Amino acid sequence: MIRAIEQKDISALFDLRAATRENPYSRVELRDIGITEESVAANLCKAHRGWVCELDGKIAGFVIGDCSTGELWVIAVLPEFEGQGVGSRLLITVETWLYSAGCREFWLRTSADQRKRAFGFYTSHGWQVSAIDGGVVYMKKTPNRSPDPALTSDTPRTGQEAGHC
Ligand SMILES: CC(C)(COP(=O)(O)OP(=O)(O)OC[C@H]1O[C@@H](n2cnc3c(N)ncnc32)[C@H](O)[C@@H]1OP(=O)(O)O)[C@@H](O)C(=O)NCCC(=O)NCCS
Repeated sequence: MIRAIEQKDISALFDLRAATRENPYSRVELRDIGITEESVAANLCKAHRGWVCELDGKIAGFVIGDCSTGELWVIAVLPEFEGQGVGSRLLITVETWLYSAGCREFWLRTSADQRKRAFGFYTSHGWQVSAIDGGVVYMKKTPNRSPDPALTSDTPRTGQEAGHC
């Protein structure tokens, strides 16, 4: 099930982000770049929206986007749930929302290491490299129509209905 992130989820999302097989970020690493539970909570009351994918009552992955810039801010799936379509459903969910919010160019930054799963994942979903800066690759996607909502039949349109704030 895909559902909007609620404030009560935020601590668990930090645990999940630290537990990914590749590209993990600990709370300390995130704090050092200004990302804390408080800042995420505040962002979700502004231009960010996010969704979790729950399987058997457990959060298997989550995604957050920023409609003020079109950024795919974060996507992460626990190792034991990789390769089951969770990341794809979350990606389509956030892309559908970004498009409905008026974004016509999406962008993200991730590791430039193309051996990592994220790179193949993004390219298989139509993302293209726009720039490489050291170990970081910038990717973009310019959709000419909304992603097919049938691919995520339970996609909320705004995320606001779950009461972020
Ligand atoms: C990247 C990530 C979100 C993918 O999630 P996932 O649930 O495993 O992805 P899915 O199972 O939905 O889909 C993988 C898709 O990518 C495709 N793909 C193409 N090349 C691939 C590759 N080298 N490795 C993995 N998948 C690849 C698969 O074929 C599949 O497409 P399909 O569904 O059309 O067959 C997940 O691996 C993850 O959380 N990684 C760690 C955190 C991370 O790197 N986040 C992003 C950057 S910070």
